[in-house]
Amino acid sequence: MTQLLNGNQLATEIRKEISKEIDQKIRKKKKRLPHLGIILSGNNSSSLTYVNRKIQECKDIGIKSTLIHLPKWILEHEILEEIKKMNENPLIDGIIVQLPLPKHINEENIILSINPKKDVDGFHPENFGKMSLNMNAFFPATALGILTILEKNQIKIYGKHTVVIGRSRIVGRPISILLSSRKNTGNSTVTLTHSRTSNIEYYTKQADIIIIAIGVPGFLKGEMIKKGVVIVDVGITRIQDGNKSFLKGDVDFNSVYGKASYLTPVPGGIGPMTRIMLMKNTLIAALKNNC
Ligand code: GUN
Repeated sequence: MTQLLNGNQLATEIRKEISKEIDQKIRKKKKRLPHLGIILSGNNSSSLTYVNRKIQECKDIGIKSTLIHLPKWILEHEILEEIKKMNENPLIDGIIVQLPLPKHINEENIILSINPKKDVDGFHPENFGKMSLNMNAFFPATALGILTILEKNQIKIYGKHTVVIGRSRIVGRPISILLSSRKNTGNSTVTLTHSRTSNIEYYTKQADIIIIAIGVPGFLKGEMIKKGVVIVDVGITRIQDGNKSFLKGDVDFNSVYGKASYLTPVPGGIGPMTRIMLMKNTLIAALKNNC
């Protein structure tokens, strides 16, 4: 039996908690609402979908958002100027720059320019470094979403072998750091695998928990896992089939279903958890910013 881990349902519960906190700590005290600044460059269809969902989530929860939508051919210094304005605007509490950026833009320069106090994505080296050292900081939302869905479903991490597939700054790297840290939500033995790992099945077959975030639809198959493994599928790719389209994760759902003990579905697994954790980070930033 495989139990599906419902991210929509959990995100709904957390949404209520965050809304309540906004009511009690902000609305009742007649303070201004938290405010998230979003920068998007270009019209990548996945990024447009992600950003629209983040804006909707802000509306649903009671967070103000401002989107700066720039063309794909924008120059790096023009994005840096927009970030500077948001850094200096005391009424903006959190800033995110949707990734990936167009190829001619240096992602490092962009991330480094965001004020770490407003870096609700947790990608700035100051936050990332603090996270790696078990210090208080903004942690990347997807990694927080994964930890929360495992914790709330009482899935044991302590002492388990977790195999992470993918080493991106958004998911693979931060989740491998957090799961191996000396914390209640850590203490796992983590193997971080990636596109240059040879014989990846050797690792996945030993895993108690697999977290996959590579953007290759259907990559993880039933024959690559052991019975009872917990699988977190972070991948989400839109597949066009004639005039229909659907979303597919990095896991070959049919071949792992029945063999895994728990599995996050796509859609409705990690996606909603990521958005709600971004809201949580934005509220924290706003409260620190005297909202
Ligand atoms: N692109 C895909 N996921 C994310 C995310 O969590 N934050 C940002 N900024 N870009 C992304």
